[in-house]
Amino acid sequence: MSQIRVLALSGSLRRDSFNTRLLHFAEEIAPLGTVFDHFEGLGDIPHFNEDREHPAPAPVADLRARVRTADAVLIATPEYNSSYPGSLKNALDWLSRADDNGLTLPGKPTAILGASPGLLGTVRAQLALRQVLHKLDANVVRQPEFLLFNAHQQFGEKGLAKDSPAAQLLGTVLGGLVDLVQQDRLAV
Ligand SMILES: Cc1cc2nc3c(=O)[nH]c(=O)nc-3n(C[C@H](O)[C@H](O)[C@H](O)COP(=O)(O)O)c2cc1C
Repeated sequence: MSQIRVLALSGSLRRDSFNTRLLHFAEEIAPLGTVFDHFEGLGDIPHFNEDREHPAPAPVADLRARVRTADAVLIATPEYNSSYPGSLKNALDWLSRADDNGLTLPGKPTAILGASPGLLGTVRAQLALRQVLHKLDANVVRQPEFLLFNAHQQFGEKGLAKDSPAAQLLGTVLGGLVDLVQQDRLAV
């Protein structure tokens, strides 16, 4: 089987973000043959403005190119005020628009993760994000849903343990994402 390229997109700009850490942990436990590209330019993407769409700002062009190159997208979102962060919505608004090469997200295998120190583990953020990804026609892993509640405790000092229930659930989500990529390849 050839490599599966995963674009990892954290919705947090925070240096010690649980969500960014979650994506690096996902890379550690991902199925063999999976290669991660961590997008770290979310904070450089300007506010979407229809008057300034063309030519696309460099950070937007970079994100679009990396989504195009990727076989799959893995998003980890924080929860801000019962939804997902505006910086992530802004990036999705840019991705919802075509450039000369067309759109990037329709049909793209995509999975959603989320981590929060709270008890609900980003459930509301994920629902809102899922709704927008549905509109953008991404091919989103439906089940299982991965919600990391009490993230500060679950990460602890040493990070998530590879034999933890959270790691097992995350592994199942990653398996689902790989399955969507393989279905795509079989369909060609
Ligand atoms: C503006 C703001 C709003 C927040 N709202 C929520 C919320 O609605 N639900 C929740 O569980 N946590 C909320 N939090 C706490 C975040 O879950 C917490 O800061 C988390 O660590 C952010 O994710 P990160 O570690 O990846 O940066 C909020 C934090 C901020 C800064």
